Amino acid sequence: MSQAQNLFLLLTLFLLFSLLSLATSEQNGDFQTLNTKFNPKIPLPPLRTLSSSKRFEGSSDLVKLKYHMGPVLSSPINIYLIWYGNWARPHKQLIKDFLLSISDTTAPHPSVSDWWKTVSLYTDQTGANISRTVSIAGEYSDLRYSNGKHLTRLSIQDVIATAVRSKPFPVDHRKGIYLVLTSDDVTMDEYCRAVCGFHYFTFPSKVGYTLPYAWVGNSGTQCPEVCAYPFAVPEYMAGGGPGKLSPPNGNVGVDGMVSVIAHELAELSSNPLVNAWYAGEDPTAPTEIGDLCEGLYGTGGGGGYIGEVMKDKDGRTFNVNGLRNRKFLVQWVWSPILNACAGPNAVDLN
Ligand SMILES: *[C@@H]1O[C@H](CO)[C@@H](O)[C@H](O)[C@H]1NC(C)=O
Repeated sequence: MSQAQNLFLLLTLFLLFSLLSLATSEQNGDFQTLNTKFNPKIPLPPLRTLSSSKRFEGSSDLVKLKYHMGPVLSSPINIYLIWYGNWARPHKQLIKDFLLSISDTTAPHPSVSDWWKTVSLYTDQTGANISRTVSIAGEYSDLRYSNGKHLTRLSIQDVIATAVRSKPFPVDHRKGIYLVLTSDDVTMDEYCRAVCGFHYFTFPSKVGYTLPYAWVGNSGTQCPEVCAYPFAVPEYMAGGGPGKLSPPNGNVGVDGMVSVIAHELAELSSNPLVNAWYAGEDPTAPTEIGDLCEGLYGTGGGGGYIGEVMKDKDGRTFNVNGLRNRKFLVQWVWSPILNACAGPNAVDLN
């Protein structure tokens, strides 16, 4: 993103924020970078001011998630998938099965759909909830790496522009969200160091419309210990501790992507134009409903421990069921009702 655009965005967001925020609270967002997934290399910050003694993990009076008057994704959500680079069919199927599981009510509890229920509790100022209906509306394969093997936050928008210009991949500016998934040989600015995925919206000057989108990369060969944690662990943790966990579908990179995709989708839906649900005083570095529960997958989690999760008979780790007997490990999200991180695999400690 150019300086000028950056400044413009900053000013716009600042103005919006100043106008809309009703009360200020103590600074509580300075420990998170924009839309990052938990990076175990960075020591856990005092954010997890969060008590760990509670039934509901992460509950804290210090977390001030606020609604900033913008829309949430309340219409049935149409996901447009952009497969950038070299993708194997079974890996694509795994990700699609996860996405299709969000609306699937046939899977046994705790299910992906149960997990999304927490996300659907968020409403906008008209009282409309985030939709529980999520479908894959289109797919586009960018086999030739149209913008090269290194992408930036700005060139991602060119990738989306290329895809929506192709027929029959439409511009769906009413219900569409665009998910750019890059293969493991594609690098991204700050990838592995600060981000595993992010979400934002396109600029009319680039794509012709303001379209909410998210990017998630396959970290399998670049930094699984950062972006596919806990299926890979950093060197320094390999000795002590529980070590790495076995991924539910046997693929460290892609199983790791599923939780990042879940994180980004939850945030994209509750904060699609970055003016709805987030905590922190700085709208350019919002702490969103996924960020608040980074690295937490079950009861008792926190401080580097992922919490109580399940294992199948082959020792593969998961916490939710999906369609076609799939199992996935997805991080929890912040519940606006419990004021704490929540997930369907919570163990009742009472
Ligand atoms: C909509 O959100 C409200 C407020 O969080 C919640 O009480 C209600 O159960 C939600 N409705 C649905 C259909 O999820």
